Amino acid sequence: MTDSVTAKTTTKTLPETVVRIEGLSKSFDGRIVLDDVHLEVNRGRIISVIGQSGGGKTTLMRCVNLLERPDRGTIEVAGEVVHHNGRMTCRDLPRLRRAVGMVFQRFNLFPHLTAVENVVLAQRKAGIQEQEALERAVALLRRVGIAHRGLALPDQLSGGEQQRVAIARALALKPDLLLFDEPTSSLDPEATREVLSVMRELAADGMTMMLVTHELPFAREVSDHVVFVDRGRIVEEGRPQDVLDAPVQARTREFLTSYGSAS
Ligand SMILES: Nc1ncnc2c1ncn2[C@@H]1O[C@H](COP(=O)(O)OP(=O)(O)OP(=O)(O)O)[C@@H](O)[C@H]1O
Ligand SMILES: [Mg+2]
Repeated sequence: MTDSVTAKTTTKTLPETVVRIEGLSKSFDGRIVLDDVHLEVNRGRIISVIGQSGGGKTTLMRCVNLLERPDRGTIEVAGEVVHHNGRMTCRDLPRLRRAVGMVFQRFNLFPHLTAVENVVLAQRKAGIQEQEALERAVALLRRVGIAHRGLALPDQLSGGEQQRVAIARALALKPDLLLFDEPTSSLDPEATREVLSVMRELAADGMTMMLVTHELPFAREVSDHVVFVDRGRIVEEGRPQDVLDAPVQARTREFLTSYGSAS
């Protein structure tokens, strides 16, 4: 898309680092779920986070847009430190939420609104005028291949179509970063292919993305960097071909073997 392409071609003037996480720790009820996590996502890059259930992947993503508040560490988004050592330093939370679009496993569309209205509402809340919001919504639904279903309610849409509406909604505020938390894990293979194809196009357009996925072949194909998280810690990270095909750590090998994809 034009905006992200523009973003990519002007990287010299924009902050190169879209997300910087340093020493992030988080506990729930005294139980550590993230333990001293360090991570950087540069503009136009795609980071995939993989790991066992309960390892802290969702919590890590939710910390980036402050849906969860970290206990310790620093989170910087698009050049602003938004949380530091248990204290929120973000001066404009709505702006942060606009900068960071999120796509969830379970779509989270408003059930009483049509596909178009779901994409319009996100923009209206951000102060965009009705006509502009409507035009952008229609263009984005076209972009994700479902303009013809714009007047359908979520429960009249297939899972893959709902997820594509959710992606259109996340794109509507022209985010600096898109977070995807297992966007295909409740979809059948055909719908998974459709959604991955939309994500592949976003990747080709230079969108910066953090992705939690169990689709390891897809992670291998699109990612610049793969992070294996286990019990709240980054155990191994690096280029997809290294982490996924030649992991160094025993835990990573065990995890990949359980997925049947270790080489
Ligand atoms: N709001 C919460 N209150 C208490 N515990 C929580 C909360 N959110 C997450 N947890 C716990 O934190 C741990 C990490 O959860 P998280 O959802 O981040 O894991 P995950 O890696 O995303 O797992 P999955 O692959 O199953 O989605 C889990 O043990 C979970 O039960
Ligand atoms: Mg999760």
